[in-house]
Amino acid sequence: MQEFYEFVTSRRSIRQLQQAPISRDRLKRILSAGRWAPSAHNAQPWRFFVLQTENRKVQLAKAMGRAFRQDLEADGEAPELVDDLVQATVDRFSSAPVLVLVCLTMGPMDSYPDKKRQQTEFMLAVQSIAAAIQTILLAAHVEGLGGCWFCAPLFCPEAVQQALGLSEEFVPQALLTLGEANETPDPPIRQPFEEVVMFLGEKEE
Ligand SMILES: Cc1cc2nc3c(=O)[nH]c(=O)nc-3n(C[C@H](O)[C@H](O)[C@H](O)COP(=O)(O)O)c2cc1C
Repeated sequence: MQEFYEFVTSRRSIRQLQQAPISRDRLKRILSAGRWAPSAHNAQPWRFFVLQTENRKVQLAKAMGRAFRQDLEADGEAPELVDDLVQATVDRFSSAPVLVLVCLTMGPMDSYPDKKRQQTEFMLAVQSIAAAIQTILLAAHVEGLGGCWFCAPLFCPEAVQQALGLSEEFVPQALLTLGEANETPDPPIRQPFEEVVMFLGEKEE
């Protein structure tokens, strides 16, 4: 049991990855684990698009880079800073051995006539997607690989869909980088237990 807790706490977001590819078997095991995450109504509203070829990775990275540039310029950021940030984004995503674009589909979810419940249903799908992502990251960890959850696609969903020729049905939620770790970061601090866990109506122990 102790091993499980050590395993969970030793998972890190690994941003520096080696160039070495991941074998198809390993990748399949990792992504297959994602399918076993809990999901609302067991609808499994996730779709995982895997990018390993240079062309695809660069195509996506550049499309996201262009969208990022537009946002930064609209914010009035200094041109040199914009160039640096955009280049870092393009390099990061182009150089990862494997990119997994996690998309949400409302296809298998329930639909409601009113906006309020429909928004709740969308939220259920988002939460299910997050559970799948965490499962994938833990599976990568058990395989001894590194990976990181990037939110960039959420900021430019249309650019991502266009770059990869995806239909509007697939709503980009996150981009995961996977590969052999090239860094061993220290654990970022967690908020104290007492601050985030409340035993309501019980005395402090
Ligand atoms: C929804 C979500 C979005 C994230 N987006 C990014 C991101 O865009 N860039 C990044 O470097 N890390 C991103 N992360 C990783 C977090 O920064 C990381 O999980 C956090 O700092 C804790 O570090 P740890 O995962 O090593 O424990 C994201 C994590 C989550 C859950």
